[in-house]
Amino acid sequence: MATRDVRRATIVLCAVFLAAAAAFAVMAGRTAPAPAPPAAVSPAEPEGARIFASRCAACHQAWEIAQLIRDAPDRPARKNAIASLLSNHGDASADEADAILAYLDGLAGG
Ligand code: HEC
Repeated sequence: MATRDVRRATIVLCAVFLAAAAAFAVMAGRTAPAPAPPAAVSPAEPEGARIFASRCAACHQAWEIAQLIRDAPDRPARKNAIASLLSNHGDASADEADAILAYLDGLAGG
């Protein structure tokens, strides 16, 4: 008798759990955001993102440096200043620094 009750309770609980899982799957599918449209990026930008991640991200957030570029009164001058900083900061080669700057410039909106 008791064994049958336990078995019945187990079956009921399994059914409830599976129903909840199914409902969750349906709802999760329904609320998934649409994929973002691909941004127009120069070929250097994904490369710059990868290099930033390996050379800079331990100490910096990309958007923080992009913000420095975006908010600069003289944007080209700010980029040049960062480019020359990178010649002895952060362990990136000159080519890598160019790719990083292209990436940050894209993040800065432009
Ligand atoms: C080991 C940690 C470290 C790494 C790696 C590193 N930085 Fe820095 N960086 C710093 C520190 C510390 C400062 C000075 C404090 C600050 O401004 O955040 C700084 C300053 C800067 C500044 C000047 C910020 C300003 O306010 O003018 C820029 C730009 C910068 N880093 C870019 C980079 C880039 C790009 C890379 C990757 C190539 C990099 N850094 C790698 C630690 C690091």
